[in-house]
Amino acid sequence: MALKLNLLAMLLFLLLASTSKAHASVFDVTSATYGAKPSSNVSKALAKAWSDACASPSASKVVVPSGTYKLKEATFRGPCKAPIEMQVQGTLQAPADASQLTRPDTWVDFQYIDMFTLSGGGTFDGQGALAWSQNDCHKNKNCKPIPINLRFKFLTNSKVQDITSLKQQIFPHACFPVQPYYISTSYHHNEVHLY
Ligand SMILES: *[C@@H]1O[C@H](CO)[C@@H](O)[C@H](O)[C@H]1NC(C)=O
Repeated sequence: MALKLNLLAMLLFLLLASTSKAHASVFDVTSATYGAKPSSNVSKALAKAWSDACASPSASKVVVPSGTYKLKEATFRGPCKAPIEMQVQGTLQAPADASQLTRPDTWVDFQYIDMFTLSGGGTFDGQGALAWSQNDCHKNKNCKPIPINLRFKFLTNSKVQDITSLKQQIFPHACFPVQPYYISTSYHHNEVHLY
């Protein structure tokens, strides 16, 4: 009897796990609610979609469909109520002009999130704002550190996969497909940088 109950509980768990995954609520930045359009500035729409998804009591997915979108520096912060995914299918582009960034060291960061996935096959394009040309390390030993495209801070049980981090002017035309990266620790002081 106990075994049967266990089995039943397990099946129920598997069923719940699979349905919660299948039915992650979608927060598409180009939906009428958020109104982002390809080739436009997605900063506000993405911030709003993130905060709605983060407050969702069940699994959620923020989607940036294909297309190129401008994104000012951004911080996506938890804790969220349920597992959350950001699926970037298109390209997010930093401002070409560094003076538009108020912090010098990071373009996009994700903080204090449990069960976070970043995926989608898209690209984070750091553009000129994070460019080598604005850094004098080639002649100054005490130069400012090269700014970071993506910074992951205090994440647990999280995963980054199928994303490209692009930084044109350091190595012109080079891009860095990011290897799948799993953060499966309960140690809350982890920090990962992608240049
Ligand atoms: C994009 O939107 C953000 C937030 O509204 C704003 O601060 C920024 O200046 C905008 N950037 C451009 C290039 O319009």
